[in-house]
Formats: sequence, structure tokens, C-alpha cells
Amino acid sequence: MPDGSINDRGIASLIEPGRVHRRVYTDPAVFELEMQRLFGRAWLFVGHATQVPKPGDFITTDLGRQPVLMTRHHDGSVRVVLNRCTHRGVKLVAERQGNRQRLICLYHGWTFDPDGTLLRVPVDEGCAPGFKLCDFNLAAAPRVGIYRGFVFASLSPSGVAFDDWIAPMKQNIDDIVDRAPGGQIALDAGVHRYIVRANWKMQAENAVDSYHVPFSHASTVNQKGVQFSRREGDEEGAKVVEGQRTAPQWKQRRSYSVGFGHCWTSNTELKENERSSAVYDEYKQTLAAAVGAERAEWILTPRMHNSLLYPNVSFMGLNMHIRVIRPIAVDMTEVNIYPVRLVGAPDAMNIRNTRLLNVTHAAASFVQSDDLEAFARAQAGLQSLQTDWVDISRGLGREEPIDPPGALRQMATDELVVRGQFRAWLDYMAAA
Ligand code: FES
Ligand SMILES: [Fe+2]
Repeated sequence: MPDGSINDRGIASLIEPGRVHRRVYTDPAVFELEMQRLFGRAWLFVGHATQVPKPGDFITTDLGRQPVLMTRHHDGSVRVVLNRCTHRGVKLVAERQGNRQRLICLYHGWTFDPDGTLLRVPVDEGCAPGFKLCDFNLAAAPRVGIYRGFVFASLSPSGVAFDDWIAPMKQNIDDIVDRAPGGQIALDAGVHRYIVRANWKMQAENAVDSYHVPFSHASTVNQKGVQFSRREGDEEGAKVVEGQRTAPQWKQRRSYSVGFGHCWTSNTELKENERSSAVYDEYKQTLAAAVGAERAEWILTPRMHNSLLYPNVSFMGLNMHIRVIRPIAVDMTEVNIYPVRLVGAPDAMNIRNTRLLNVTHAAASFVQSDDLEAFARAQAGLQSLQTDWVDISRGLGREEPIDPPGALRQMATDELVVRGQFRAWLDYMAAA
């Protein structure tokens, strides 16, 4: 089948156990179908409730390519509605964020409440007989689910229930949120936003790829093969390279694939009991005062590195942030990286965390810039017609079953998590 057309049989033929066809990254027809069948159905991260703290607050984003508004209604509830005027289709709100008690369309002034209720139509004597305001409310996302302030929506009225979908990844969200002495986080400390000329799946795969680190990020390790410290209070970071090879410590990391495309990698062993600084010690005491010393110790022991809630959001525990993936075209993706503010932690600790994130994940940083270059070069290399297949076979057949049933584990330098993402991809894509 040529590029530019695709049917259900064609979709299934793109995925094999240890390899995928280049068209999943390069073919606009596959991308169009992803927007309908994957992003049009899956639970997607929309935003965090702390981005809309007061009634009338809103953020705008896109789910797939459908423009949406996340608002705080007058009654205090969080709503997700389509950002499309029900008159003649104009995008109702252009700004990324703001506050409005009424949403007024710039074209003819139709006026909506933050929950999407149509309140007023100017020159209403012109309305057609039988015209009713309530027939023209903004469309709401058919399903919305919230866990610890993280707001997700599905644009499909049916599909896997939110509770089932989020269940295997709750511990990953807790892993970060529990670090806040107040038991909640806020995404109100800015954002690193950039556009990369690559398919969105490159970023989703890379978020949980432990194979590339010693090579892509070679410039971030010293002569002893140790990466710079990425946490407040650490003298040094993780051992990544030994001689010319991947360090044994690095190979101890594990990947987990738990269904729905969700996955994570365990953290590297870090010298936890040597972690100390004035700022970190004060934070640790604040956390211990809130939850007890033993629990604080447990919360602060690194277990998870990167987690991916497939398909559009990842969490990082080391340089704490939430990363949102927004596909724009088959070869263009917007990446948004939000620092995590730990509510109740000393300001100095939150500032240090944000500064460390600037060093690793800003567009001109030590770490993420390496990855962005890899994504763009992969997109360029995949234009080659010499071979059609992309290899994802590392560790194939060596997966270790774990609880719950269906979940798998293996060395993080293997490609279990990429295969897990493509299993979910095919589930969404193959169902008409
Ligand atoms: S298009 Fe919005 S009021 Fe006419
Ligand atoms: Fe990387």
C-alpha cells in the first residue's frame, strides 16, 4: 500500500513483534488516523487543576488537534469544553491562559459561561423561530477524570473507564505528589515550550528510553563516567559510563510496562544518605513534620525515574516535571515541560528544583537538547527508502511477568516499553 492511504489491514501490517514500519512516523495518512482513533479516543492529559485556581480561570490546549478549554466554573468545578463557538465555528479563546467570567466570541459576540452554557446572543430578534440558547452550549468533553488534581479527558463517550486506565499509574503520580508537605503539587511555575521537527512518538518513546543515555548525553558525564548532579543536596549524580561502556549500575535500572501503553523506568542508585544541603535539609524537615520521619525517608528515596501515561504525558521524578506531548503534524510536535511546585515546601527548595530543571530540560539545556537533536535526525533518517523497518527488538522474548497479570519488567536498556506503547497503539488504531 503506498504512503498516503491506509486501511485496517494496512495498519496491522505496520507493527511486528520486534520492529515497526517507518510509516508510523512518516506517513501523513497514519497521522490523520492517529488523530481520530488514538487521540480521538484515549484518555489524554489536559492540565492540572492548579492552572485554573479561581472561578473564570482558563487554559487552552489541543487534544490531538481539537482545541479545548479547561476552565474553573463559578461553582468551583473544573470543566473541559471544546474551544469552538457554536455559531459559526470560531475558536472562542485564543490566549494560552487567563481569567474571564464570561467567554465572548470575537466574531458576533455570543457569550458563554465558563462551563460552556450559552448565555446571550446579540440582536436576538434575528434568531430563527424555535431557536433555543440551550441547543447551542459549547460541546463538553464526553468524559473527564481527575486524579490528585491531574485532569484527563477523553473525546470519546465510550472506551476504557478512567479508573481502570489510571489505576496502574496512580503510584507514579503519588511518587511526585507525596513529596509535597501539603500533599499537593501546583503547575504554576512557568513552562518550557518548544516545537521539534519530529513525530510525537519519538518523545513518548524517549521519555522511558534508558539505552540512549550514555551515548546521547555523553557530554553530561565527567571523566569518571558520572553525570552532573541533578538533585539539590547531591554531591554527584549517577554513574552512567564505565570505560567506553554502559556502567553496571546503569544496567540495574528496570523498565515496567503495565498495559494501555503505560510504562516507567526505575531510578538509578543514588547516594541517598549522603544527600544534604541547607535547602534540602530544611525541606526534608518540613516534610517529616507533615508526614513523620519514616514516611518522609520513604517518599524521598528515589524509585521511579520517568513514567509515561500513554499517549501524551510523562512525569519525571529526578528533575521533577510534567511533560505534555502535543502532536501538530506527522513530523512536528510541541513539547511542554512544566516544573512541579511542591505546595508547602520551602520556597528555596522549589526555586532550586526549578533551576535544576532549567539546566536539564530547557530548550537550550544540557540534556533535552541532545534528545531533540536525536528526534529531528531520526525523522530525517526515516526519509530513507533503503529499508522500511525500525528495530525495537532489544530484550524481545526476555520479558519477565510481574503483578498485576499482563504487566512486564526487564532491563531498562531493553525496548520493552517501546513495544508496550506500540501494542496500545495498535489496539487504538486497529479498531474501526
Ligand atoms: S462565530 Fe462566534 S459569535 Fe459568530
Ligand atoms: Fe535523553
